[in-house]
Amino acid sequence: MTSQTIPVEPFDCIVFGGSGDLAERKLIPALYQRQRAGQFSDPTRIIGASRSEMSVEDYKTFARNAIHEHVKKDEIDEEQIEQFLQRISYVAIDAKSDQGWPELKKLIKNKPADIRAFYLAVSPSLFGDIAKQLKSNDLITDQTRIVVEKPIGRDLASAQILNDTIGSVFREDQIFRIDHYLGKETVQNLMALRFANALYEPLWNSAHIDHVQITVAESVGLEGRAGYYDTAGALRDMVQNHMLQLLCLVAMEPPASLEADAVHDEKVKVLRSLVPITADNVQENTVRGQYRAGASAGGPVKSYLDDLENNTSNTETFVALKAEIGNWRWANVPFYLRTGKRLAERVSEIVVTFKPIPHSIFESSAGHITANQLVIRLQPDEGVKQWIMIKDPGPGGMRLRQIPLDMSFAASFDERNPDAYERLIMDVVRGNQTLFMRRDEVEAAWRWVDPILEGWESNEQKVQGYTSGTWGPSGSIALIERDGRTWHDSL
Ligand code: BG6
Repeated sequence: MTSQTIPVEPFDCIVFGGSGDLAERKLIPALYQRQRAGQFSDPTRIIGASRSEMSVEDYKTFARNAIHEHVKKDEIDEEQIEQFLQRISYVAIDAKSDQGWPELKKLIKNKPADIRAFYLAVSPSLFGDIAKQLKSNDLITDQTRIVVEKPIGRDLASAQILNDTIGSVFREDQIFRIDHYLGKETVQNLMALRFANALYEPLWNSAHIDHVQITVAESVGLEGRAGYYDTAGALRDMVQNHMLQLLCLVAMEPPASLEADAVHDEKVKVLRSLVPITADNVQENTVRGQYRAGASAGGPVKSYLDDLENNTSNTETFVALKAEIGNWRWANVPFYLRTGKRLAERVSEIVVTFKPIPHSIFESSAGHITANQLVIRLQPDEGVKQWIMIKDPGPGGMRLRQIPLDMSFAASFDERNPDAYERLIMDVVRGNQTLFMRRDEVEAAWRWVDPILEGWESNEQKVQGYTSGTWGPSGSIALIERDGRTWHDSL
């Protein structure tokens, strides 16, 4: 099966932080892939903007290298790269002064495309300066959008300030807050699974579901981002955004349509229904971990503290927690979340465990009847497995066995799996905000996360060490086993 590429209208995409890490690893490769797919109409342009003094030719070399470095070999098409590079310009610009702004203005205005997307791949401390410059240089039209990357704040108060700053210059329907997890193929498939099938929805509640697990495990460590990471930690870096977004998609009521506000409204309701974890119960409901030396990603690795060259950090590189949603649908159905760096494998998945059958008609010799599980694998090996019980084939009498109904996407479709950024950038151009976060969503997520952070601080909750290459600290296992459950074995 193959899908069709529908071209988008011509646009100018101005990437602030254009020579930075995100542009190099994700944005330029994603835009190149859309060029290769034939999705651009002329005159689409990509304009890099950053403080580095470089010529347009230098920037084209940077972009060419980024493509060669971060796109798979069999997806490199030199002719397409050349056509892509013809779309590229560059301006050296300083967000904090007037330097470069007249050049940017001239560049944009000399060949205006209707749609303009300013992509802020920069530190949030620059969001305000850039927004003000865009306004005072008269660069914002009705068809202009602004794209902002996380972290949107480090708590509710700072998120509100950032949102106010951007909101003073842009309308909410022009602001695209990226959570790249929402652009992942299988995350969207979760919506298809729930709302394009009659099968699951009647069972999707506390009468039939025992609990839900969401795991986002990484084998990598800090990847050169120690400065940022040590001030954030896993709760801010992964839970406040990606993991709560996944939780929302599992738990939300069916929206009336896929229209952005309809989906955002339902997600906000879930976030507001999360039962607070506060200083009183934070120790029993959360576990903080920090990796020690060990073996991960194919070789020996140092501890977090050695990676950081700092012996005192109490920042968590792992967090596990038990969340509860206080509404009719999910009462008494725990959602166990865990995420961490330097774990045994890179695997992200959502596991929905159904309740056990109410009565068994089988002799004990038939074996154990395992509760049904729906496993939605986000990465790698994207797909969905519905585990069911069957009779073991053969004449050996009634013996039961668990097998998966296996919907492995990689095996079912001929196409490459596009990176989340490809879809999300095209949605920015189309003006479709469904897969982005609305202001109240980001703030509702912080409203739930803040008391956890405060509880950790007031309880002086220390990180528990775990050996790199394992599944995290023993406290994480205890967190779920205390409830008579176990983490799904992802291997
Ligand atoms: C980012 C986090 O948002 O997501 C990183 O800041 C993390 O720390 C990354 O590594 C994980 O994304 P993915 O797509 O590789 O699962």
